[in-house]
Amino acid sequence: MFTTELATVSYIGATILFILSLGGLSNQETALRGNLYGMVGMAIAVLATIFGPQVTGAGIPWIIGAMVIGGSIGMYAARTVQMTQMPELVALMHSMVGLAAMLVGFSTFIDPEASKGFTGAAKSIHEMEIYIGILIGAVTFSGSIVAFGKLSGRIGGNPLLLPARHWLNLLGLLVVIWFGREFMNAHSIADGMTPLIIMTVIALLFGIHMVMAIGGADMPVVVSMLNSYSGWAAAATGFMLSNDLLIVTGALVGSSGAILSYIMCKAMARSFISVIAGGFGTASAAPAPSGGPAQPAGEVFPIKAAETAELLREAKSVIIVPGYGMAVAQAQHTVYEITKFLREKGCNIRFGIHPVAGRMPGHMNVLLAEAKVPYDIVFEMDELNDDFPKTDVVMVIGANDIVNPGAQDDPNSPIAGMPVLEVWKAKTSIVMKRSMASGYAGVDNPLFYKENNRMLFGDAKKMLDEVLVSLKT
Ligand code: TAP
Repeated sequence: MFTTELATVSYIGATILFILSLGGLSNQETALRGNLYGMVGMAIAVLATIFGPQVTGAGIPWIIGAMVIGGSIGMYAARTVQMTQMPELVALMHSMVGLAAMLVGFSTFIDPEASKGFTGAAKSIHEMEIYIGILIGAVTFSGSIVAFGKLSGRIGGNPLLLPARHWLNLLGLLVVIWFGREFMNAHSIADGMTPLIIMTVIALLFGIHMVMAIGGADMPVVVSMLNSYSGWAAAATGFMLSNDLLIVTGALVGSSGAILSYIMCKAMARSFISVIAGGFGTASAAPAPSGGPAQPAGEVFPIKAAETAELLREAKSVIIVPGYGMAVAQAQHTVYEITKFLREKGCNIRFGIHPVAGRMPGHMNVLLAEAKVPYDIVFEMDELNDDFPKTDVVMVIGANDIVNPGAQDDPNSPIAGMPVLEVWKAKTSIVMKRSMASGYAGVDNPLFYKENNRMLFGDAKKMLDEVLVSLKT
């Protein structure tokens, strides 16, 4: 069993491993190691908590039972989920963190043992921790459930914009502050329960309202923002339970989620405040998520797989820009086969990755790594954007919004200002997709009508298989 000292040392070790884990995850070459650090850190943290001084022998079977049930559900979900469903799974997991923070808050408040020994200022701080912990937990819980609904298509992607919604939010905040005062002044558990329940209901409604007001196109930022909230909810739980490791881990998740939200906002040319204020993706801006046919705006030049292979065979430099469609078609392995073939022929072939390509951060990197594409030919958008004019052929595989010149040329476009890969500057660009349908943001793409652009219509995997066969014969 862990003594208090051993538990403290274990927590410090786990904290260091979590920090190393985050550092490792920031680069694909060290990501595996980062994951390993995280797993070892979490194992140490869980063991030090279960066998530590805060848990009595009678509680251990309960904890182990809960871990077996929760672990089995988690393992089943992780094994069966498709890569493209990852954001909705993550949203669902965030909701669990929020729910846990709420439940811990209520049980800490009800349990006389938990507040034993708190008097004066310490008692006020303890109560404030409970109040704020439940508040953050409730917003995270209901917001994440709505995000899950939107991402999985169970709830429509269009933002729900109630009249005077900002005033409603402000009113909610004032009521929460008022009841916070009532809660702190309560003399008994029964007295404190009413303000606590009223605040929880308002926080739950606020979470629903906040995410319902956000349009489909901003959902990735919202998921990452809820990730940050779930971290702060965990940190608040750590304060309630006087668990230092939970405080540190929650703060790490909270701050890394906030940084990721900022990076994504930058990549999508959105200000964080306007994402939270909601409304992007309305009928006047962009239609609901993906798929709808865009208005035709000119002539397109179709190309066949054999002609694509011919262009590739003659090219000295090639850039591949993968997008969501490559993930849907699971075309990454064929992409790698083509890459290997062209590299062996001496072609300078590289990959250009947009920060929000696909449906989650790092989506394309994960797929390319799975297909064993070497890391040293995978570049970020900023590293490659100046090289397009010197490139013979660009292959855009199932990408759309991230290569839309309208983001630069059309100030009225819903994606105006979003940095994009300037593929149209290459000698020839080839776009592989099944139809003229729009992408996630629901806007037409002028790239398709450029004179130096060719459209290879069809499922990306099927088309690339044909290209590979033609290349080899
Ligand atoms: P999109 O703009 O969504 O375009 C993907 C294209 O792939 C579609 O136009 C679709 O056209 C095509 N496609 C679908 N299935 C295909 C298949 N089997 N074979 C060939 N093509 C197929 O994707 P993108 O360019 O990667 O841009 C990402 C968008 O998603 C951005 O708007 C971004 O803001 C948003 N978003 C990003 C994230 C993150 S964090 N990465 C999360 C959520 C949303 P067809 O139907 O004609 O085939």
